[in-house]
Amino acid sequence: MGRWRKKPQMVLCAALGRGHMIPMMGLARSLASTGEISVTVVFQNAGARNSIQEATFFSGLDVELAVLDAANLCEDPPWLTGGSVSARMHKDRSRRSPKAAAGSMDPESALRELLADLLASPSPPVCLVADFSLPWTAAPARDLDLARYVLYTDPANFMAVAYFCKKLVEMAILPAKDPREKKIAVPGVPDLSQHDISQYIWDSRDQYHPRVELWHRKTVESDGVLLNTFYELESSAVDALREEILPGTSLFTVGPLIVTGFSGSESDSRCAVYGAEKNACMEWLDSKPESSVLYVSFGSWEVLVDDQITELAQALESSGCFFLWVVRLAPGSSIGSLLPQGFESRVIAPGRGLIVTTWAPQQEILKHQATGGFVTHCGWNSVLECVCLAGVPMVCWPLISDQPTTCRFVVDGLRIGVEIHEDASGFVDRGEIENAVKMVMVEGAEMRRIAGEYKRLAAIAASEEGSSSISLREFMDKALKGRSYVPCNSGNST
Ligand code: UDX
Repeated sequence: MGRWRKKPQMVLCAALGRGHMIPMMGLARSLASTGEISVTVVFQNAGARNSIQEATFFSGLDVELAVLDAANLCEDPPWLTGGSVSARMHKDRSRRSPKAAAGSMDPESALRELLADLLASPSPPVCLVADFSLPWTAAPARDLDLARYVLYTDPANFMAVAYFCKKLVEMAILPAKDPREKKIAVPGVPDLSQHDISQYIWDSRDQYHPRVELWHRKTVESDGVLLNTFYELESSAVDALREEILPGTSLFTVGPLIVTGFSGSESDSRCAVYGAEKNACMEWLDSKPESSVLYVSFGSWEVLVDDQITELAQALESSGCFFLWVVRLAPGSSIGSLLPQGFESRVIAPGRGLIVTTWAPQQEILKHQATGGFVTHCGWNSVLECVCLAGVPMVCWPLISDQPTTCRFVVDGLRIGVEIHEDASGFVDRGEIENAVKMVMVEGAEMRRIAGEYKRLAAIAASEEGSSSISLREFMDKALKGRSYVPCNSGNST
């Protein structure tokens, strides 16, 4: 830090959690790759910062990394600590529980100090871009008269629902008489049931509602919102947000923000074997015919309960297709004891299935020609990666937060997915899984065709003249406008 940088600088503030950090790194790369912006990425703790492989992500780019010296930053997101979480899911508290941070300041003060330092430097930043789950970034930016933009890491479909919910409650549409009936209309979004909308979003009595409501309030109070999507994918929701739901807000569709080569959390010591695991996955995929493999993964932190893992193993075996399955285990569980008897010799040894129990190279797997379908929890990064890198249909098994709404969008909006239904206790039986897998892998030709079309549109959106590049340019123009940036003559450090 302290180097006199030649280009206008933007400061990006990343949230913890892979699902949030990955798109922020993608944004840093997109901005720096224009050659016109220098980027400083601020992490909330040293662990998060150390998990970034600068050499892989930012090689040759003007990107610097900084860490806040702050205490009490590792808040669990609300859905991991209870609330509207599926009963059939472990809350993996061991990896995500609040850590006693070493720093001495509250996050707001730590950020204020860092920004003040940067603003006093010869190349002061032109704006801050913060993850939408960091509302405390608003006050320091306001106090220092620095423009603040927000990166919204969930889909535009979910954003539309989140901001329209208040109206649904006022109109007594929520709570619904029949929570499963799909007749809730939100502009730009396929018809929803109450079941498709996480409770903490609309129910003010939910203990996590105030926190998430604050995230959303601080998001629209910003100077503009960057969405990790591309216009052609979510045009209805984006149009509805612009014209009807949030007409006064500047929205920029700058996605897909995808970075490859991310590892698991720093504390996950097995990250060290990432390289080896990657090769194992790729070699295994190389041996399989085109579009024959089902990829199964539930993102970076969700963990299925043990008996659900066993049920899924049985379903994968009887589906008859090749599968590559990333299994995240609850503390104290071991994969060997959860697999049905004889599974290893019948399924793993002959090469029918590959199980990864650490961190898989998801983007590489999705890009591989052998991958033909994806069982996903509908985390937005996973859905985007599936659309943009693979162009294959999905088995949608949503668990929490934005995922049920995203599932509705993938199934009814994009028509490239089959929904998994759980029973009243939240359990999904093997017949349900097998059936959905068959619809995707055997009968999914039309979904495959449509998914391929979105993949093509994603490539166009990301190209030089594509909608996402234009939107990124519009954001940069807005952020740079009015800020008197005087490029320095010397590239030397101060
Ligand atoms: C969370 C929320 O759950 C999600 O709904 C929200 O939209 C973003 O934040 P997460 O649950 O981790 O994210 O899911 P997802 O959004 O799919 O992000 C997971 C990321 O980790 C993806 O980029 C995926 O490629 C990567 N990943 C995950 C791996 O590379 N390897 C793994 O083994 C697991």
